[in-house]
Amino acid sequence: MKVRVDAERCQGHTLCAMNAPDVFELDDVDGHASPVSEDVPADLEADVIEAVRSCPERAISVS
Ligand code: F3S
Repeated sequence: MKVRVDAERCQGHTLCAMNAPDVFELDDVDGHASPVSEDVPADLEADVIEAVRSCPERAISVS
């Protein structure tokens, strides 16, 4: 699985990082998220799906 965050959609709600703290990191200044790596380890895929569902801005996509 690969994960991306659309920087223009992300509004810094931080729910992604709460659901998948090993996958997403938050910018110290504005709180916007980005993946630590776009390649998601298999054991973290369920967390990423939760993060996708939790984001109010629909900023996270997976493939
Ligand atoms: Fe941004 Fe959505 Fe996470 S708005 S900080 S990608 S929950």
